[in-house]
Amino acid sequence: MSRSVQSPRVINIEDLRRAAKRRLPRVVFDYIDGGAEGELTLRANCRAFEAVTFRPRCAVATPACDLRTTVLGIPLSMPLILAPVGSSRLMYPRGEEAAARAAGAAGIAYALSTLSGCRLEDVAAASKGVVWYQLYLVGGRDCALSAIERARAAGFSALVVTIDTPVAGLRERDMRNGVKELLSRKLVGMLPFVNQLLTKPRWLMSFLVDGGLMKFPNVAIPGQGPMLYADVTTALEQSMVSWDDLGWIREAWSGPIVIKGVHTGDDACRAVDAGADALVVSNHGGRQLDGVAPTLRMLPEVLASVGDRIEVLLDGGIRRGSDIVKALCFGARAVLAGRAYAYGQPPHPDTQSGGNDKCHHAHPHAYAMRPDHHLGMIYQSQNVPERKKCENYTRDA
Ligand code: FNR
Repeated sequence: MSRSVQSPRVINIEDLRRAAKRRLPRVVFDYIDGGAEGELTLRANCRAFEAVTFRPRCAVATPACDLRTTVLGIPLSMPLILAPVGSSRLMYPRGEEAAARAAGAAGIAYALSTLSGCRLEDVAAASKGVVWYQLYLVGGRDCALSAIERARAAGFSALVVTIDTPVAGLRERDMRNGVKELLSRKLVGMLPFVNQLLTKPRWLMSFLVDGGLMKFPNVAIPGQGPMLYADVTTALEQSMVSWDDLGWIREAWSGPIVIKGVHTGDDACRAVDAGADALVVSNHGGRQLDGVAPTLRMLPEVLASVGDRIEVLLDGGIRRGSDIVKALCFGARAVLAGRAYAYGQPPHPDTQSGGNDKCHHAHPHAYAMRPDHHLGMIYQSQNVPERKKCENYTRDA
């Protein structure tokens, strides 16, 4: 593990974010950190959590907190799932395998993006826990069907269908940093932007040693092989998923389906009608349509529409254990976090522990996200909060 992450200065996700900013080239850091257009929704996601305050009950005996829960019938050590983050290999070598391994060791689930740099079989093999496969229809239906079959054979237990990417988000930081030019591999276009890579030689060296990824091994286009990075924007735009697609996806995948990217009560009902087993209230972490409401604000509408007919998860803006508690107070079954782990570097496999005190040293970002402290303070009793305990929060206007 890098010295910067072991440092006592890295005790929360914001510290980890700053460490990532120092460690990574600007183009990579901004790819993780940025959002669409003015980044209104990105900021609003976090602010929605900040605006919620707790109403603790005091002077009540507090037994140890039990954070265990189940999602889709699968036991998790706490109500946190690592969200699909494409191209995690840009952030650290074999990034998707490392994240899956860390999640498995911590007893939580990991969702692998279609747009990953590691083969899905290798990611499943790296984790001793639960892995889900996130599906984009890039490369067309046959390509998706072959990925679904591979995911089933490799042991992925749920399919996450992301529905909020009909076009690639307008990420202004990416445009400024020359993402398109760098991916083009045309020297003249790349030249004005390569300096940001050269100023981070340690990152550059590890990236090159890791293979300097330029292809997506899980998007095997019939007759062409793995999709190139340079083709991803066009491929996303040509592969919009619609509710009709859920029919053939359901036929191809017999396990649980999670619909990710639900913003409204209406779409939540459509997810139920489409036979989904869970949904994620998500705006893609503010990376797609800027100006949509923060997810925490949309959660009550979604819950009111679907009741208990489907498991409701949430992501967007989770940066602390207290954010997890707030989402649970509002009725989410569990949350997903993207940037909170993407900023980090994985611990060395030999030093991983499963969620106890040693975890603080081995995996500071997992520690920072554990909600036990807040649960102990707020609930002063019992286990993970349930929806009925909503009287324990107050939402500021
Ligand atoms: C994402 N997200 C994402 N979602 C998805 O369904 N497929 C993907 O390939 C990606 N890729 C991706 C890359 C990066 C760098 C980020 C930060 C996010 C969205 C992700 O799954 C999740 O919805 C958000 O990250 C949640 O917001 P927070 O936790 O980052 O605030």
